[in-house]
Amino acid sequence: FSAHYYYQVMKNNGFPETAEFGKLWGRFAEGFMWSTATASYQIEGAWRADGKGISIWDKFTHTPGKVLNNDNGDIACDSYNKLEVDIGLLKQLKVTHYRMSISWPRVLPDGTINNINEAGVDYYHRVIDALLAANIQPQVTLYHWDLPQAIEDQGGWLSDIVVDRFRDYADFLFSRFGQKVKFWITINEPYIIALLGYGYGSFAPGISHDPGSLHYVAGHNVIKAHAEAWHVYNDKYRAEQKGRISITLNSDWAEPRNPYKQEDIDAAKRYMDFFLGWFANPIFKGDYNEPMKRIIRERSLAAGLEKSRLPEFTPAEIERIKGTHDFFGLNHYTSVLAFSVDFGDTQNYDADRGVAVISDRTWLESGSNWLRIAPLGFRKLLKYIKEEYGDPPILVTENGVSENGPVDLNDEHRSFFYENYINEALKANMTDGANVIGYTAWSLMDNLEWASGYGERFGLFYVNHTNADRPRTPKASVPFYTTIVRCNGFPD
Ligand code: NOJ
Repeated sequence: FSAHYYYQVMKNNGFPETAEFGKLWGRFAEGFMWSTATASYQIEGAWRADGKGISIWDKFTHTPGKVLNNDNGDIACDSYNKLEVDIGLLKQLKVTHYRMSISWPRVLPDGTINNINEAGVDYYHRVIDALLAANIQPQVTLYHWDLPQAIEDQGGWLSDIVVDRFRDYADFLFSRFGQKVKFWITINEPYIIALLGYGYGSFAPGISHDPGSLHYVAGHNVIKAHAEAWHVYNDKYRAEQKGRISITLNSDWAEPRNPYKQEDIDAAKRYMDFFLGWFANPIFKGDYNEPMKRIIRERSLAAGLEKSRLPEFTPAEIERIKGTHDFFGLNHYTSVLAFSVDFGDTQNYDADRGVAVISDRTWLESGSNWLRIAPLGFRKLLKYIKEEYGDPPILVTENGVSENGPVDLNDEHRSFFYENYINEALKANMTDGANVIGYTAWSLMDNLEWASGYGERFGLFYVNHTNADRPRTPKASVPFYTTIVRCNGFPD
């Protein structure tokens, strides 16, 4: 069944998960940042244009069988050639900010500052200048997964060479764009980079391993690379450029399957520790959380390995990483019901965590099998971040929903999603006191949904990927989201 079908069923029967207190009427604070997001590889195309280098996603998508229907980003939404059109879409949405990413190999084809592709640099200057001219502030992600293949060839995120390369790349971007860009996000979703890229191998570069330790190594280097980029900005650019810089972490919200069972309560907490906590703990508190350290160590030693599969930070590294954030960048989509499972001595992430999950069948489905609509979990997660990580300013850098199957521009499920999720963020803000400073809808337009290809559509604008011109058409959720943006929430 389609999301639309479920939407209709639920519309007729009521929406139990939000019925608790109904909708909260109110506005976000003045200056709240309303944004929508894209990522370079998912929209730009022009994969060989004007001196761009090859990324791990170029290679991965060109390997048959890796991506659904063997879709690739060679042309994608052709945004590289459609700057004015895309700025027009953003103007139509009335957003105050736009979250975009820079393709590392487009500006540094071999990943190093020894070889600068000025044509690529010019392209991003044109994008940023056009945004500023439209009075839209850019929020720029340095790394949204398109690693230069040349760096992967030296070990990618598994080698600490990448830490130095990323620091140089970040330094280069701040020096070239820092006069214009005041919001920086170092790295998007380390959890996905590490686990899907170097654990399950379902995303580029497609590495999997047994016993599963490489995702922890990749994650370790991602954290170090982020910290170095933050420090470069802090030491060298902050005083003059006066911007803000942080990292974007993704997390589901986990509820115990049976809230009266201690085992399930513990499983839900473990799920959060291994997901959000894997990266949030080092960056906000200074080291991996104790449950992760203890569990992975015990299981590694019990399996006869010499040491834990989770690498250790030195005391100096802990100090250097701790506090490398100006806000908490959060990508959130869905919730799960967690319960405890013993996977025996299998040495992988799932077994380490010892948690299995299901969905509540009253949560509406989307076009992605991992995404069920559960707005209340968003509120709970925002409150959890406030309590667990020292009440940071929280910038929601992604939130959204997909559809698949036949195109229907009347995307009621998306308006439903935004209305309910944004309202839960308002409750977290007004009622629970979480310091939510901005909200970003994923995505501006239908684009390459990574290994799921063009079949899962997250866009506010529909993009016809079979038409050479890649026309964009607003879905019904465009005026809907625009109204929320213009009202700064839900005024009574
Ligand atoms: C998170 C990623 O950052 C983005 O690239 C992706 O398309 C969305 N989630 C939807 O899965």
